[in-house]
Amino acid sequence: MTPTIFFLFGFLLCTINSHVVARDFCIADLNSRDTPAGYPCKSPTNITVDDFVFSNFKLGKPNQFNSSVATAYVGNFPALNGLGFSIARGELEEGVTIPLHLHPDTSEVVIAGSGNYTTGFISSDNVVYMKTLAEGDIFVIPKGLLHFGFNSGKGKVSALFVLSHENPSIQIVDLALFGNKLDSSIIQKTTFLDDAQIKKLKALFKGSG
Ligand SMILES: *[C@@H]1O[C@H](CO)[C@@H](O)[C@H](O)[C@H]1NC(C)=O
Ligand SMILES: *[C@@H]1O[C@H](CO)[C@@H](O)[C@H](O)[C@H]1NC(C)=O
Ligand SMILES: *[C@@H]1O[C@H](CO)[C@@H](O)[C@H](O)[C@H]1NC(C)=O
Repeated sequence: MTPTIFFLFGFLLCTINSHVVARDFCIADLNSRDTPAGYPCKSPTNITVDDFVFSNFKLGKPNQFNSSVATAYVGNFPALNGLGFSIARGELEEGVTIPLHLHPDTSEVVIAGSGNYTTGFISSDNVVYMKTLAEGDIFVIPKGLLHFGFNSGKGKVSALFVLSHENPSIQIVDLALFGNKLDSSIIQKTTFLDDAQIKKLKALFKGSG
């Protein structure tokens, strides 16, 4: 009995010691393929403090919805590998909207910056939860739900977003409906929009059919 316990204890200690570094973090080796369990780890001998710093969190040119967004996710910030979150920041000019979209399996935290940012989500029983946030307010969007935001005040609005996935995907309703080859007659049946309106939106979002 006692030798068995000693053996088990020793075995445990060895296991803990040999994995101590590897378990602290796993910086993504972006030269390898992403897998459902994340990227393989970059070799520990090549890791420096700079692997933990992201210096490119800069707003790009406005996108097709006129918002400027910067993202730090595992694909451009490999230190996020295995950590289960990513970060984005956005800036909206007066009147600009972040369109209705969702992130499958991903919850979101919104941290409001300057300006009047109005944001909301729609629960699966179609109740709208919407609020104009004050600077410093934190708003939570439960995973998988459709949500949106817009600048409801004067001047620019800024906000920070934390997503509960290191490589989140995004599905935008406008693009799902009008940015692909889904046949107009099907869109007509499902949205009750008339054909001319559908064609107009397909032209805007570069869809066809
Ligand atoms: C470390 O980085 C160097 C330079 O990029 C590379 O040649 C070497 O193979 C890397 N070592 C390991 C163990 O990955
Ligand atoms: C984006 O801004 C431009 C210039 O102000 C405007 O013409 C365009 O309609 C806007 N697009 C959207 C989706 O609001
Ligand atoms: C935000 O909304 C409040 C209340 O309506 C208003 O007093 C304030 O001027 C607005 N701020 C901006 C930047 O639009």
